[in-house]
Amino acid sequence: MDSITIIQPDDFHLHLRDEEALNSVVHDSARQFARAVIMPNLKPPVTTVELAMAYRQRILTCLPEDTDFTPLMTLYLTDRARTSDIEEIAKAEFVHAVKLYPAGATTNSEYGVTELKNVFPVLEKMQESGVPLLIHGEVTNPDVDPFDREKVFINDVLAPLLKQFSELKVVLEHITTRDAVDFVSNGPSTLAATVTPQHLLYNRGALFNNGLRPHNFCLPVLKREEHRLAIVEAATSGNEKFFLGTDSAPHAKDSKESDCGCAGIYSALNALEIYTQVFEDQGCLDKLEQFASINGARFYGISQNTKKVTLTKQTWEVPRILPFGDNEVVPLMSGETLRWKLQSQ
Ligand code: NCD
Ligand code: ZN
Repeated sequence: MDSITIIQPDDFHLHLRDEEALNSVVHDSARQFARAVIMPNLKPPVTTVELAMAYRQRILTCLPEDTDFTPLMTLYLTDRARTSDIEEIAKAEFVHAVKLYPAGATTNSEYGVTELKNVFPVLEKMQESGVPLLIHGEVTNPDVDPFDREKVFINDVLAPLLKQFSELKVVLEHITTRDAVDFVSNGPSTLAATVTPQHLLYNRGALFNNGLRPHNFCLPVLKREEHRLAIVEAATSGNEKFFLGTDSAPHAKDSKESDCGCAGIYSALNALEIYTQVFEDQGCLDKLEQFASINGARFYGISQNTKKVTLTKQTWEVPRILPFGDNEVVPLMSGETLRWKLQSQ
């Protein structure tokens, strides 16, 4: 097959940052995706509908006036969130979900939830109003090995949470383990998961490939090959519980190549082409549209996009480096060759 045409995809997990950095990266997402679920982990975080609306406006200001790109905004859950914040979401047209970062789990998560019971009334309200909870699924206990933090979260936190809030819509974000694949596959229809390009492409060997590779470091961290294979199988299976979320999370080159490098991989430039390559390698190109353009919209209860996009077989080299405000960012697969290219529309 030399070309594939699918409904234009959405990105159900995206970090756009703010100010100059936002202006550098948002065009890459707008070129590939019709809509994107925008993560709220700014500094300070996006905790209210009012802040989300202001952020949305800053995003749209970077784009041409006639842009088709739609940011789907989210709120950052803190211990001090109120049920009235959820009532506001239900009324707001542009806010679609609430993000749970366990405090200390990842980049800008210090304002996150310290104990889940602090937000039970808010979760109750979300369940009642049908607002999805997006979860960074890792425990933060330093005694738990970093490679086990997702699995322990699923057993100790997520399973009891789903029992208590059996109608709450939950997305387990950027899954990295067979445990997550099994848990989501066997879970209720209210539970789904997003899958990033890097967790389809790489196992943890990519962190130590002839030396330390900070640009392959993200959270949850890459796992063993058996986990990668389970994620590839789930994403390419057509199972409607798994859908596209790039977790594109740009950090300046300098802050990744540091003695305490930031977690996050920039993939907004080429994510769709990478997903396509993975689906082709798996002999499942026929399932790409479902994963990229149908499953997520269905889960969120939003309409399917009408526009189509075409990818053609065409090799191209991923730039080594891209501008990022007054700094630079290194994209996923920097300097490597891709076999598919999204046609400009
Ligand atoms: C994200 C970021 O940099 O904002 N980093 C990452 O490694 N994925 C935060 C997150 O989603 O964990
Ligand atoms: Zn993320």
